[in-house]
Amino acid sequence: MNGKKKRTKRNWVVPKGQEPTDLDRRVIALEEQGCLVPSRRLILNDEQIAGIRRSGVVNTGILDMLEEKIRAGMTTGEIDRLVYDYTVQHGATPAPLHYEGFPKSCCTSINEVVCHGIPSDEEELWEGDIVNVDVSTILDGYYSDASRMYIVGKTSPENERLVRVAKECLDIGAAAARPWGFVQDIGRAIGEHAHKNGYSVVRDLCGHGVGLKFHDDPDVDHYDTGEQGMLLVPGMVFTIEPMINMGTWEVFVDEEDDWTVVSEDEKPSAQWEHTFLMTENGVEALTW
Ligand code: MF3
Ligand code: CO
Repeated sequence: MNGKKKRTKRNWVVPKGQEPTDLDRRVIALEEQGCLVPSRRLILNDEQIAGIRRSGVVNTGILDMLEEKIRAGMTTGEIDRLVYDYTVQHGATPAPLHYEGFPKSCCTSINEVVCHGIPSDEEELWEGDIVNVDVSTILDGYYSDASRMYIVGKTSPENERLVRVAKECLDIGAAAARPWGFVQDIGRAIGEHAHKNGYSVVRDLCGHGVGLKFHDDPDVDHYDTGEQGMLLVPGMVFTIEPMINMGTWEVFVDEEDDWTVVSEDEKPSAQWEHTFLMTENGVEALTW
């Protein structure tokens, strides 16, 4: 022995006694070249994907139901109860409830709130507000995660444009995700579209693997970090959820509750999120 050395730990491990498949060989070759590859458990089987798909149907039903309900004068506490009731009536559990101490069943983020706003009976929606409702569902142990922007009544043209471009950023990011490509492709496409429109991209929060857990690998950054990020292999499930700011990309956490993330300059922010399955020909949305 001559001192200390970092051990080579592989992410991709073929179980002992199993013959490597063509897919195994392809990933191992990339890992040997120095690429960050997923661990093998992140490639989900058909049964797992079917479960996440069913979870995504409930999750989407919640977001659709809210389209009819959200109006000026209601509170975000009422939104939270609508989400809770719909979820349990469909045999599911809201993933945010008690998650790391989060007290409610969804996040409601109004105007300058970037994400993780806590629903409250004291917080009313006003005409012209833009509000993100972020809903995550556990059904039979399978997680799905999605959010939409809702415009309360009529808002300003500036807010309307922000909400629209934020949705375009999600769609463009999803279209940029290719099998055997890398997470960086997603962030680069989103960043370009946001910047072209005069907006910034929040850096402190990212999309994530989802399905078997609420938050898993890979990290899905929504801007070009300058690093390739993780290899995208068919069978991976992850979210893309860009937060697009009208002003600066910087944010702070409200020390009142330790959850609410707010844009540093308190200018409006918009976010859309979906859960995606990587297939042989690009991503398929499991929420919509
Ligand atoms: N739904 C959020 C996400 O997109 C996570 C919220 S964590 C919570 O990852 F505890 F605040 F709900
Ligand atoms: Co998410």
